[in-house]
Amino acid sequence: MEVLKIRGGNPLRGSITVSGAKNAALPIFAATLLTDEECIIENVPDLSDVRYMAEILQCLGAHVAREGVHGWVFKAENLVSRAPYELVRKMRASVCLMGPLVGRLRQADVSLPGGCVIGPRPIDLHLKGLSKLNCDINISNGYVHIDGRSMRGGDLFLGGRHGPTVTGTANLLMAAVLAPGCTRIESAACEPEIVDLCGMLNAMGANISGVGSHHLTVEGVEKLHGCRYRIISDRIEAGTFLLAGAITGGDLTVSGVRTNHLSALLDKMEEADIETEIIGENSIRVIGAGQRRPVDLITLPHPAFPTDLQAQMCALMSLTPGLSILTEKIYPNRFMHVPELQRMGADISIEGPSAIIKGKDSLSGAPVMASDLRASAALILAGLAAQGETWIQRIYHIDRGYEHIDERLTELGADIARLPASEMPKEMLVEV
Ligand code: EPZ
Repeated sequence: MEVLKIRGGNPLRGSITVSGAKNAALPIFAATLLTDEECIIENVPDLSDVRYMAEILQCLGAHVAREGVHGWVFKAENLVSRAPYELVRKMRASVCLMGPLVGRLRQADVSLPGGCVIGPRPIDLHLKGLSKLNCDINISNGYVHIDGRSMRGGDLFLGGRHGPTVTGTANLLMAAVLAPGCTRIESAACEPEIVDLCGMLNAMGANISGVGSHHLTVEGVEKLHGCRYRIISDRIEAGTFLLAGAITGGDLTVSGVRTNHLSALLDKMEEADIETEIIGENSIRVIGAGQRRPVDLITLPHPAFPTDLQAQMCALMSLTPGLSILTEKIYPNRFMHVPELQRMGADISIEGPSAIIKGKDSLSGAPVMASDLRASAALILAGLAAQGETWIQRIYHIDRGYEHIDERLTELGADIARLPASEMPKEMLVEV
């Protein structure tokens, strides 16, 4: 087991290039099951979740190989239709295997995903959509059994209590592209990662229109062919680094970003009086020195403020004088980072789906526990700006979504080290 040791106070300076998007890579990997031809995927982030999805595809029968660090080659000739519990339970995103398996094989047996610390992760909208494509679905022994032998295009609505479902949209696109007839998806998710998936599917010969909107139309085709496809950059990693530049009072340029993927964040940074500068087509500079102002924000589906940056904003607003209110509308319980930030002296109270934050002049380093991917990022940001040492345990959460985060932050001037847990002062170590 490893821990991160951070000594706060160093402003981040320099420039960093963003990795490929994890949440595009995962459904795009699944989409390679839709053809028996070779698919080459480029600009893939080197993350544990990505390697794990590749392992699952291999267990389903696909030939999988790497092309350098950030390239992967898939060829799914002989597939099995069962994705077992011991594989699916470890990563919720594997639920998006349902669509390509039923699209390609006309049947799928996929274990129901496990629980998750950020809140309930139902798949009712996924299953409702598959029923509308005339699939027979039954759930038994913790598995979803899908019979797609009579599958055909249909009209789907993917809006739920918390907006459209992202992986639900991915699943239903991957089923519909090989379903005879026309499928219309209303209230589809339009996150950039879904746009990227549509780009890959169309590059494979699919016929999807309305891409980037909440109204997608899919004309089913007989077969899809292989492709070489480059994944978009990770807007959440980019946003995390911009907020790291802000919280440390640094001067940081984040390159390789799609600035139009970060409009909501840049809007909130402007409201907080944080100086940013768009440089050319794909770089953003943040100058963190200067007095910030508190903000109110609500997380909503794209293009509104993304839930995956809420925890990081909590950390920043904990060190921003004034009262900030962050309301979480996608996962109302997504506040596992709050008790850990409070251990560092943050003044945050939770009222229903909102975090009420009274900004402090300083936070103090402390031993804290990572709980999920984005909560871990929030703890790193707080540790970078806190006085003294912060020790973060359970950092396997962070490695799921941020490539070599400690090495890259070190290059920007952070005092951060990845150490064996045995190096942690005994009184701090919590058996994990
Ligand atoms: C994707 O999760 C992302 N994961 C999440 O990122 C992200 O937070 C989320 O979208 C929202 O943007 C991947 O893409 C792998 P949803 P997903 O289905 O697709 C409810 C990260 O940190 N819902 O859009 O699983 C659900 O409970 C991860 O990178 C239903 O009610 O999220 C939630 O409240 C965390 N019924 C809301 O919709 C359903 O059938 C959004 O869920 C499906 C979802």
